[in-house]
This record gives sequence, structure tokens and C-alpha cells, in this order.
Amino acid sequence: MRLWILFVPFLVNLVLGGLAAGPSVVLDSGTFTGIASGTVSQFLGIPFAQPPIGNLRYRLPQPIQPYNGSHLATAFGPACPQQNTNLPLPPGLPSQSINFLVNAGIGVIFPDSEDCLNINVIRPATATSNSKLPVVVWIYGGGWERGTTSFPLYDGSLIVSRSIILGTPIIYVSMNYRLTGFGFLASKEVKDAGIGNLGLQDQRQALRWVQKYIGAFGGDPSKVTIWGESAGAISISLHMLANNGNTEGLFRAAFMQSGSPLPVGDITNGQALYDTIVAETGCSGTSDALDCLRSLPYDTLKAAIDKSPGIFDYQSLRLVWSPRADGTFITDNPQKLIQQGVVASIPFVTGDCDDEGTLFSFSTLNVTTEVQFKDYIQGTFWQGVSSTDVDHLATLYTSDITQGSPYDTGLTDVLTPQYKRLASFQGDAVFQAPRRFFLQNRSGKQNTWVYLSKRFKTLPYLGSVSAILFQR
Ligand SMILES: *[C@@H]1O[C@H](CO)[C@@H](O)[C@H](O)[C@H]1NC(C)=O
Ligand SMILES: *[C@@H]1O[C@H](CO)[C@@H](O)[C@H](O)[C@H]1NC(C)=O
Ligand SMILES: *[C@@H]1O[C@H](CO)[C@@H](O)[C@H](O)[C@H]1NC(C)=O
Repeated sequence: MRLWILFVPFLVNLVLGGLAAGPSVVLDSGTFTGIASGTVSQFLGIPFAQPPIGNLRYRLPQPIQPYNGSHLATAFGPACPQQNTNLPLPPGLPSQSINFLVNAGIGVIFPDSEDCLNINVIRPATATSNSKLPVVVWIYGGGWERGTTSFPLYDGSLIVSRSIILGTPIIYVSMNYRLTGFGFLASKEVKDAGIGNLGLQDQRQALRWVQKYIGAFGGDPSKVTIWGESAGAISISLHMLANNGNTEGLFRAAFMQSGSPLPVGDITNGQALYDTIVAETGCSGTSDALDCLRSLPYDTLKAAIDKSPGIFDYQSLRLVWSPRADGTFITDNPQKLIQQGVVASIPFVTGDCDDEGTLFSFSTLNVTTEVQFKDYIQGTFWQGVSSTDVDHLATLYTSDITQGSPYDTGLTDVLTPQYKRLASFQGDAVFQAPRRFFLQNRSGKQNTWVYLSKRFKTLPYLGSVSAILFQR
């Protein structure tokens, strides 16, 4: 009797698939076997484009050949090459805040490979090719220099199982896209070759893959929402402006957490860094520097790219690797495109957290005086801005620490005399102001929603930073 009782769960498991073959899906002539986990099935690490290696390095993503054969889709594919940066942890930061950053995985380096264009699909276990479920496509952040779909906080199975409980089941998709100097090389040569913004092009290619294949998983390709955070949210806003605002039917709604169209400038503004990398790798003076870069051993190119400043270096949010106006896909500066009305006419949500600038001000703790504050803005953050404008800015963002960010913290959370001031300024310049510009221009023309999150507001020195949205 007792033995029998012990055996029942085992048999149930066996019947429900614990030991049976995992869920499978047929794409073209290929069969992909995923993982059954609770109420969801996961299909992980499916290549969605040809590997961007060899002669396909620094090329637009190429569609994958029709699938054939049998494949396991039971593990995440590698991350794309990540920028080598160190998270600055200011001395005196309380363990509560350190633990938050560590738990959020900020600073973790994931296994990476140049062959990284892989996609994941998580669906309700009961979905069939007739289900026609809505689809959400997740685009991670990380300043276009870090990040991957395998990041534990991006576990889509929680989203899908929750959607089942709510009675509104969905399918979750996430893709890796090229980052840093592999995905966002910028120069005149890059512009002329039509290979700007490759990281965004990879995202777009993944959306084309969704159109072609999501039906086989039980998804409805006409019901795709794109959803992202930070650089992922900014990427989404740029997909709304790219291609002259034509979505090509790839998505019908957008959800942006902590990221709006930024004044990214022209792609030729990246020339100096491009020239440095070309020189560093011995590619100057060759007849075709891009071809030379394509032929380099991965490690040589990666080492040269890693010398460039990252998001946690002194210049912080003045990112060297980011989308830029490339003349073809993103035809102009995003703010100009908004003013021209070149915006996809789809409903969208865009929201920020209260203290977006704090984490990014850990890199500038040696800015401690009024003069250094102004110098930082004029000399680093916003090169070319006039002294009159900087003086005006300094009167708007005063040195009064009770006015800085994290907001509503009075005389506390003062890492240095200028810390809260810089955090306030950076949060507004990179997050709140672009969001307002976008919203003010689009509300009334299409359905828009907005939020301001103050979740976990009491985190010392950080306040409500955006990565906190994923803490459970
Ligand atoms: C199967 O797919 C691979 C990879 O795309 C391709 O090289 C191969 O030719 C295909 N085989 C058949 C029989 O179609
Ligand atoms: C908003 O966009 C419209 C085009 O849709 C443009 O005519 C208008 O000038 C813009 N307004 C602002 C304040 O930029
Ligand atoms: C702060 O340190 C960085 C190097 O880490 C340096 O480039 C910068 O000039 C310093 N700023 C000030 C105001 O001392």
C-alpha cells in the first residue's frame, strides 16, 4: 500500500511528460524539442538568422535557411559578445543596495559567442498551431553593450504561467541581438556600406522570424506586442520611427519601460572611435577597412572594442555604442522624425522610474564641486553645449541636495555634494525629458499610456532605479 502511494506521483509524472519526450514543434522540415515545465513549454536557443561570423560579420542579418533535421531546444544559446566594464560600487554603499545590484545581475558577464543570433519561445503547454495566441516579444536592455535573454530576471515562463492564471494566455519570445562594437559600429564607411545599427536590424530580423514561425507554436503573427526595458525600450521606440514609421506589420503595439527616443546624432559621429579600432587592429591603410575587420580573429577585434569606454566608466550615459541615424533605416535624428510625424501609428505605453539617473552617477563621484559639475556637462556629457546654457541648467538643477535624486530623500543619500544633482540631471536628460517629448507630441494622435514607478523607493542611494522593475 505504502509503496503504491509512493509510486502514484511517479506514474503521474511519467504520463504528464516528466519522462516522456519533451514538447516539440515542426518548423519547415525541422523538428525542435523543448522543455515541459509546469503549465508552459519552453523552446530555447533556436537560431533565427545565419551566424553573423566570418564574411557575415558587419553585415545585415541574413535570414536562416529552411530548417531540417531534429534539434534540441532545451538550453539558452550564448549571449552576444559583451562589453568589458566594471560596475563601480562606491565605498560606503549599504549592503542592501549592493545586494540589489548583485541580485539584479548587473555586472555579471554571461558566456558569449559571436554566433549568438538565437531566439526563445515560451508558450502555454496546451497551445497548438490553431491557438492563435497574442505574442509579446521581449527586448532586453544593458546599454546596447551588455545583456542576454538568459538573464534570470527575464524568465518568460513566469509571465506565460501568470497569463494562463489570468485567463488571457500569451506566448513570450526573446532574442539575442548584436551589441557593443559588433552591433553598433559607426562611421562614414559603415553608413556607406548600409550596415549601421546592426543590433536593431537583428531585432527586426527576429520580428520577421516571428511572423514566419510563431503560428507553428500557437501564436498569432498579427498580434505582436514589442516590450523592452532601458536600451530595449529605446530600441523599441526607434523601431517605431525606423523604416519611415512603417512597421511592415511586424508589431501592433509597444511597451517601453525606461526608454524613449533619444537624440542619438548621426552615425558619422562615431568616426573617431571607428578610426581608433581600425588602427588598433592594424586595418588602417588597407583598401577596405571593413573587410579587414571582418577577417580579424575574434579575440583581436574584441580586445580592441573592450578598450572603449563602457556605461559604468566616467562618461557613463554618453554611450559610445548606441543606435544612430544611419540615413536608411533611421533616416534622421529621432526628435526630428517625431516632429515630422514619422512615427508608427500603434498604441503604446511608455513609463520611467523616479530615479533613473542614480546608478549612472556612481561613475562620476569625483565630480564634487560646482565648477566640476558644469565642466562634466559641457566637457563630457553634452559636448558642444554653450556656457550660457550650462549656467542656466545649473540654476535649474541646483546644488541643493534636498532637490536631487533619489528624490524625496532630504539631506540623506548624499554620496558626494554633487551626486544627487548629477543623478537628477542625468535621469531627466536621458529618461524623463525624451519620454515627455515623445508623449506630448503623440498623445491625441494615437493611444498612449504613461506611468512613473516609485517601487522600492527606499533603496539607499539608488531609490527607484529601473532594473528594480524586475525584482520579485
Ligand atoms: C539542412 O540545413 C542545413 C543548414 O541550413 C543546410 O546546410 C543543409 O543543406 C540542409 N539539408 C537539407 C537536406 O536540406
Ligand atoms: C509634433 O509633431 C507634429 C507632426 O506630427 C509637428 O507638426 C509638431 O511641430 C510637433 N510639435 C512639437 C512641439 O514638436
Ligand atoms: C574623474 O576621474 C576620471 C578618470 O577616472 C577623469 O578622467 C576625470 O577627469 C576626473 N574628473 C574630475 C572632476 O576629477
